[in-house]
Amino acid sequence: MTKAKGADTLPLNRILPGDCIEVMNGLPEASVDLIFADPPYNLQLRGELHRPDNSKVDAVNDHWDQFDGFAAYDRFTRDWLAAARRVLKPHGAIWVIGSYHNIFRLGAELQNQGYWLLNDVVWRKSNPMPNFKGKRLTNAHETLIWASRSEGAKYTFNYEALKSLNEGVQMRSDWVLPICTGHERLKDDNGDKAHPTQKPESLLHRVLVATTNPGDVVLDPFFGTGTTGAVAKMLGRDFIGIEREESYRKVAEARLARVRKYDREALMVSASKRAEPRVPFGQLVERGMLRPGEVLVSPRGKTAKVRADGTLVGDAMTGSIHQVGAALEGAPSCNGWTYWHFRREGKMVPIDFLRQQIRAEMNGRPH
Ligand SMILES: C[S@@+](CC[C@H](N)C(=O)[O-])C[C@H]1O[C@@H](n2cnc3c(N)ncnc32)[C@H](O)[C@@H]1O
Repeated sequence: MTKAKGADTLPLNRILPGDCIEVMNGLPEASVDLIFADPPYNLQLRGELHRPDNSKVDAVNDHWDQFDGFAAYDRFTRDWLAAARRVLKPHGAIWVIGSYHNIFRLGAELQNQGYWLLNDVVWRKSNPMPNFKGKRLTNAHETLIWASRSEGAKYTFNYEALKSLNEGVQMRSDWVLPICTGHERLKDDNGDKAHPTQKPESLLHRVLVATTNPGDVVLDPFFGTGTTGAVAKMLGRDFIGIEREESYRKVAEARLARVRKYDREALMVSASKRAEPRVPFGQLVERGMLRPGEVLVSPRGKTAKVRADGTLVGDAMTGSIHQVGAALEGAPSCNGWTYWHFRREGKMVPIDFLRQQIRAEMNGRPH
């Protein structure tokens, strides 16, 4: 396993207080795998916004969203994107999210700095806020930009996993997901929204499954209530959050303390067949991950014994993990990797889990 320079000193799974540019400049160079950034929108709202019944709309008019014009916003964008690029590993990538107010400025600056745009994604909100004044279209989407650190650089993309998420159909660049409401929406002591722009976990789930692997380090320089950290923790990724406002950090800390990581087996995702190196089953035996004589079990309780040469011996049949599985099921074929399970600490684990471990080592990833 190759470790990034300075990886041992990374403040993993913590929320760092302060200005994200200063904090990122203090982190080791080339140390994070992915950045998810939801920066201030620079909405430039003038005055309060009211609904037709005169109730006040919870708009984003907080001081953290105020800039002294486009030039100031552009300077800020330039500085934080440069600081972000320094901490990204050469094969790392960045996602930025924004609305029409800021996304074009972000996109231009990404390109100016040498990031390489891979896709933009339209997050279409299935339940957008209505337009109260009726003078423009209802804002029903936000845009995400996904970019690698530089042109031609390798980056992580779990194509097959996304296809599986989409019931076997290639994932497109328009994502229909609801905005954050109901029990997911964090509230303060008065029952008001704890943060005006809390992102839905579903959005981060898709981003992290698509472009990271378990054990990767995900940095969010505009952490807010910690949606990125919460989903990273569930998915077995490490995170680093940076947030300037203490009140948001407190909400995020409490949220993260409640989050539990999914179990190892649930974290495995479908891998791209083209990208993954071949691992013969015999290698698991050679390396002592499974011992000759160990009994493997199928989901319906059929058994076979592992032999020293990497074959299995079943009831009346000897052969590969696939052949013995197919014979026991009376089926023309069988994927032995997902069919056969071994017992560890009282749990049944598919042998594919061991193959993933070997592949992670080959790809220089922790597992
Ligand atoms: C759009 S919100 C992010 C919301 C977050 N994605 C969530 O789901 O809760 C932007 C956040 O960045 C923080 N922020 C703004 N400027 C910052 C800076 N220079 N350094 C650190 N945090 C900053 C704000 O306090 C705000 O919480």
